[in-house]
Amino acid sequence: MRALVTGASQGIGRATAEALGAAGFDVVVHYRRHREEAERVAAAIRATGRSATLLPADLEAPDAPAAMGASVRAGGDSLDVLVHNAGEYPRQRFEETTEADFERQLRVHLLAPAALTRELLPMLRRSPRAAVVFVTSVLAYTGSQRGSPYAAAKAAQLGFARSLALELAPGITVNLVAPGAVDTAVLAGDTPERRRERVRRIPLGRLGTPADVAGAIAFLASPAARYITGETLQVNGGLRLG
Ligand SMILES: NC(=O)c1ccc[n+]([C@@H]2O[C@H](COP(=O)([O-])OP(=O)(O)OC[C@H]3O[C@@H](n4cnc5c(N)ncnc54)[C@H](OP(=O)(O)O)[C@@H]3O)[C@@H](O)[C@H]2O)c1
Repeated sequence: MRALVTGASQGIGRATAEALGAAGFDVVVHYRRHREEAERVAAAIRATGRSATLLPADLEAPDAPAAMGASVRAGGDSLDVLVHNAGEYPRQRFEETTEADFERQLRVHLLAPAALTRELLPMLRRSPRAAVVFVTSVLAYTGSQRGSPYAAAKAAQLGFARSLALELAPGITVNLVAPGAVDTAVLAGDTPERRRERVRRIPLGRLGTPADVAGAIAFLASPAARYITGETLQVNGGLRLG
């Protein structure tokens, strides 16, 4: 069994790649800039006895998905799990945004995952039980006060993933996880006060960890989730309950 995780050099993607490795998958570790970190992730997976290969690509480049598809095909005949995780969250007020900011967010979160899924579909169809998982965000539902292109692109993932779930059934499940505030590089710019304020709004009393989200992704990729498709698992410590 083989899995591809995009954005696996750090944060949620890293934890997901390692969780899938621990679950018995060979893993394709995609990254953009952090090669050394990606190498460490691959080494950790190999240490558990699974194989791990590196796949560099900037998803902002329109030709990246085709090159990634070719590389994944060259590395093996099968692909069973595809996790669309890569992305970043630039903070910007709407007045400061340009068309290019929207294009960039839609490219990385929607157009590249769509093209990559298209590239890898024949391999996924050959799997006895394939799973595609998108990492969207609580901001797809709530909106973002300083990231309308990001929130819009994350919301676009919901409609796309549900459509895929309908079209790719019965052979392939397609689900999403929607993290709340997870302690990764994405929150690195927070002031201590902003961080305390975030935690105050979370009923479970702490930020999420990458492993919290990776566990949900690994579940959706596992046989235990074989009758779940088109769903979104909210992994946010109860953030949306209040
Ligand atoms: N952290 C949160 O609070 C939170 C909440 C909701 C949703 N999310 C979502 O969770 C996912 C992972 O985020 P994270 O918090 O784990 O962030 P992170 O630690 O910053 O990791 C982001 C990963 O995505 C890769 N990446 C970013 N832009 C890319 C691009 N244009 N092309 C290719 N790869 C790219 C990075 O690669 P390099 O580092 O190698 O460049 C890195 O591996 C993202 O989709 C994010 O929107 C995060």
